[in-house]
Amino acid sequence: MAYFAVLQFLWLSASICAISALNSDGRTLLSLLRHWTLIPPLIKSSWNASHSTPCSSWVGVQCDRNNQFVVSLNLSGYGISDHLGPEISHLNYLRTIDLSMNRFSGPIPSELGNSSLLEYLDLSVNNFTGQIPESLGNLNSLSYMSLYRNSLTDIIPESLFTIPHLQTIYLHNNGLTGTIPSNVGNMSDIKILWLYGNQLSGTILPSIGNCTSLQEIYLNENQLVGSLPESLDYLEHLAYFDVSSNMLEGSIPFVSGNCKEMNTMVFSFNNFTGSIPPAFGNCSSLTAFAAVSCALSGPIPSSFGQLSWLTILYLSVNHLSGKIPPELGNCKSLVDLRIDENQLEGEIPSEIAMLSQLQSLFLFTNNLTGEIPLGIWKIQSLQYLLLYKNNLTGELPIEITELKQLRNLSLFENHFTGVIPQGLGINSSLVQVDLTDNLFTGPIPPNLCFGNQLRTLNLGLNDFLGSIPPSLGNCSTLTRLILKKNHLTGVIPIFF
Ligand SMILES: *[C@@H]1O[C@H](CO)[C@@H](O)[C@H](O)[C@H]1NC(C)=O
Ligand SMILES: *[C@@H]1O[C@H](CO)[C@@H](O)[C@H](O)[C@H]1NC(C)=O
Ligand SMILES: *[C@@H]1O[C@H](CO)[C@@H](O)[C@H](O)[C@H]1NC(C)=O
Ligand SMILES: *[C@@H]1O[C@H](CO)[C@@H](O)[C@H](O)[C@H]1NC(C)=O
Ligand SMILES: *[C@@H]1O[C@H](CO)[C@@H](O)[C@H](O)[C@H]1NC(C)=O
Ligand SMILES: *[C@@H]1O[C@H](CO)[C@@H](O)[C@H](O)[C@H]1NC(C)=O
Ligand SMILES: *[C@@H]1O[C@H](CO)[C@@H](O)[C@H](O)[C@H]1NC(C)=O
Ligand SMILES: *[C@@H]1O[C@H](CO)[C@@H](O)[C@H](O)[C@H]1NC(C)=O
Ligand SMILES: *[C@@H]1O[C@H](CO)[C@@H](O)[C@H](O)[C@H]1NC(C)=O
Ligand SMILES: *[C@@H]1O[C@H](CO)[C@@H](O)[C@H](O)[C@H]1NC(C)=O
Ligand SMILES: *[C@@H]1O[C@H](CO)[C@@H](O)[C@H](O)[C@H]1NC(C)=O
Ligand SMILES: *[C@@H]1O[C@H](CO)[C@@H](O)[C@H](O)[C@H]1NC(C)=O
Repeated sequence: MAYFAVLQFLWLSASICAISALNSDGRTLLSLLRHWTLIPPLIKSSWNASHSTPCSSWVGVQCDRNNQFVVSLNLSGYGISDHLGPEISHLNYLRTIDLSMNRFSGPIPSELGNSSLLEYLDLSVNNFTGQIPESLGNLNSLSYMSLYRNSLTDIIPESLFTIPHLQTIYLHNNGLTGTIPSNVGNMSDIKILWLYGNQLSGTILPSIGNCTSLQEIYLNENQLVGSLPESLDYLEHLAYFDVSSNMLEGSIPFVSGNCKEMNTMVFSFNNFTGSIPPAFGNCSSLTAFAAVSCALSGPIPSSFGQLSWLTILYLSVNHLSGKIPPELGNCKSLVDLRIDENQLEGEIPSEIAMLSQLQSLFLFTNNLTGEIPLGIWKIQSLQYLLLYKNNLTGELPIEITELKQLRNLSLFENHFTGVIPQGLGINSSLVQVDLTDNLFTGPIPPNLCFGNQLRTLNLGLNDFLGSIPPSLGNCSTLTRLILKKNHLTGVIPIFF
């Protein structure tokens, strides 16, 4: 009998409680709302002060197994504006915070550093301002920190890099200044470090070589100086590396060939010296390599021919010399090959024709000679063939009329000769044809505008004969037509 009485008492007190009092975590959540002028409807309707706990039905809230404490707050993309209140740190059992993709403004509350169980913090894509609180370095359980695309300023606190098991840091696209914290080498578990699109200055310290778990480093679009540390060679799990658009100098490291997991390497828009290390040929997973405008010299390593997954190779605007290595023909996945604006010489190797996926071939402004290998005119995927400003010779073969994807044919300032196949343009995708300053002769092909996309046609400074094809007059897309200095006869059609 006494037993039942106790039970009944417990039941009564529980229900009285339910009617009268929201628990502490629930009250804390409601106090966050007081900082917001507009409360999103879903939150307004479900965060109900007469509930006893936020655990059963409040949107964005998850609790522990006993439905006692809030362990996760996910209000990603709810359209919340205004401030994040310091009360958030009173949710003592929080392990996950995802407030990404809202319009939070004002500072990140330093009290957040008290959420000692926090493992996952995502405040990305908001408008938080001010500095990153030093106190976040106290979040000893944190493995994921994402603060990207806010308006955060000032330095990156060193304390962040002392968090013992941090694996992911996204701080890109803010206004962060100062240097990369000098204790960067302390992060033994860090896998992903994205700091791009800030105003970071100073050098990349050699101690980064101690971050042996690193897989992704994005340091591009900052103001980093000095040379790339040789210790980068120790990062054997490195897959994504981008230091483009800084003011780096010195030689490119990665000379060990210790790079089996490398996928994407971007060095572009820096001021390096020396040549491209042949060891990159050992990075068998490499799919994209870019070193545009890097002041590099020397040859293109023939070892690049071992990279069978390489789809993008950008080496434009350097001082590269020598011949195009025929081995590049083995890079069967290549889609986009750009080696324009260098000092390459010799012929275009016929092996390039083996690149059956190729869409863009940029070799302009070099010193290439000889004829275009016949096989190149058979690469059906070709869209951009930019070979202008070289010393190329020969004629355009009938095969050119079969390149239905071709959009941009720019061959100006070479020594091409002969008559252009008259079928050029039929069912084509041609947008731009520039053959200026060659030795072409014969009639102007009548069907160049057949694809109804032609915008620019430049045939000046050649030996074209005959009259202007009337069909060009129906070319409504054409905005630029240059035919000067040829041997054209007849009248200028009325439509001009
Ligand atoms: C809040 O909860 C109480 C008690 O469960 C309920 O009577 C009331 O309708 C709820 N209010 C809203 C706005 O849902
Ligand atoms: C938060 O919710 C969004 C949308 O439901 C989801 O995409 C995201 O993965 C969630 N965040 C976490 C940390 O689970
Ligand atoms: C929480 O953090 C703030 C600032 O970081 C600190 O001043 C305060 O004492 C902390 N509160 C508790 C309860 O630990
Ligand atoms: C972010 O906040 C700053 C200052 O509070 C303001 O000037 C700016 O317009 C805001 N940006 C966006 C995208 O809301
Ligand atoms: C962390 O970095 C500091 C200096 O920045 C250094 O004194 C300390 O030894 C480092 N700790 C570890 C574990 O590497
Ligand atoms: C890695 O850290 C150790 C000490 O923890 C230090 O002696 C060594 O110089 C560091 N390596 C690099 C490349 O900085
Ligand atoms: C590339 O790998 C081969 C075989 O794995 C090795 O013999 C060679 O030394 C490596 N070359 C470079 C430059 O790392
Ligand atoms: C590159 O370095 C050269 C010589 O050191 C210097 O003259 C030039 O201004 C630098 N360019 C850039 C963009 O840093
Ligand atoms: C092109 O090559 C020819 C013959 O090798 C050489 O005379 C000329 O200087 C080179 N021109 C340029 C711009 O490199
Ligand atoms: C073409 O070759 C001649 C010599 O054969 C050379 O003087 C000229 O610089 C070359 N043109 C280009 C664009 O390299
Ligand atoms: C085609 O190439 C020329 C260079 O000859 C470039 O200026 C133009 O933007 C390109 N047009 C298209 C449509 O790609
Ligand atoms: C052009 O395309 C049309 C329709 O797809 C087709 O009938 C015609 O045979 C094609 N002409 C040539 C020359 O390929």
